Amino acid sequence: MRTREIVVVGGGIVSLAIALELRQQGAAVTVLCRDFAQAATHAAAGMLAPQAERIPSSPMLDLCLKSRALYPDWTRKLESLSGLNSGYWSCGILSPAYETPHPLPLAPQWLDRAQIHRHQPNLSAEVTGGWWFPEDGQVDNRDLARALWVAVQELGVEVQTGITVEAIVPHHDRVAHLQTSAGDWQANHYIVATGAWSQSLLPIPVWPRKGQILSLQVPRERCDRTGLPLETVLFGSEIYIVPRRDGRIVIGATSEDVGFTPGNTLWGKETLLRAAVRLYPDLQHFPVAEFWWGFRPATADELPILGTSPYQNLTLATGHYRNGILLAPITGALIADFVLHQTADPFLEAFCWSRFKLAGG
Ligand code: GLY
Repeated sequence: MRTREIVVVGGGIVSLAIALELRQQGAAVTVLCRDFAQAATHAAAGMLAPQAERIPSSPMLDLCLKSRALYPDWTRKLESLSGLNSGYWSCGILSPAYETPHPLPLAPQWLDRAQIHRHQPNLSAEVTGGWWFPEDGQVDNRDLARALWVAVQELGVEVQTGITVEAIVPHHDRVAHLQTSAGDWQANHYIVATGAWSQSLLPIPVWPRKGQILSLQVPRERCDRTGLPLETVLFGSEIYIVPRRDGRIVIGATSEDVGFTPGNTLWGKETLLRAAVRLYPDLQHFPVAEFWWGFRPATADELPILGTSPYQNLTLATGHYRNGILLAPITGALIADFVLHQTADPFLEAFCWSRFKLAGG
């Protein structure tokens, strides 16, 4: 039996963000990761989009806005610890609409037809207006994942890869140990941050919602000649288009209830390509670079599960659904404070797992 102070189960951005914060506060932390490459972290587009996602006024919106505000300092810290670029870009998000809402929005973010086409040339002629959210942005989630992976290990977090946690073995209201593919592990405290795979360990309502996604690569000569064709994220009603600084353009995503069925389908590819070209017709001229897919961790109310669990010495940080990349910094801070100082933050009450139990879920 291997014994540790704190074991974090999960190999995605949320588990690494928690490990980083715990370690910075002096805890000895081990991360058990089955397959770093499989985490939803790598599949995402990396939008930091609480406003473009139209999250209604709620604790969730507050949580997302708080996390977005942490991003500049958090990514600077990761870059300095790892020596790697995180791909954070406060580029703003433009949300074009094909139909003008009635009554006309009074919000200062609303742009009418003339304003939006001036703001972003080469949009589809079908666009009749839209919203501009200058404080939303993006991070290159793959760069971020690499930087975070290196940063936690630079700080002294022990990362064990290729280990599958097979069962949580309880004793009364505590976890006694974890049964894994590499023997049993024991800790003073456990954190489960296993995203879409959480139900394999605990009876909590988190399941996979598949997203198919693709990228284009703008040819280098074109970028050298005229600059990047897009320098802001487009968040349309059918599609989002996320330009990277290196000329890639990420386009996503489908939303499918198909369990863990892998692969890109013809339907998925065609749906994404058609919707992308409809919104920004110039995209049809750029070569396709890659297709991939991932599994968002969905919950019944599409909100995360943070904090207490059925066990005294186990904390939950899962179910981030469409917002795992955005919520990583705030989740790391909240969960570390809760585990180390028992800080009863109102956010942890709002996102407690027992809301499902009380609702009979
Ligand atoms: N965050 C965007 C998505 O999940 O598709």
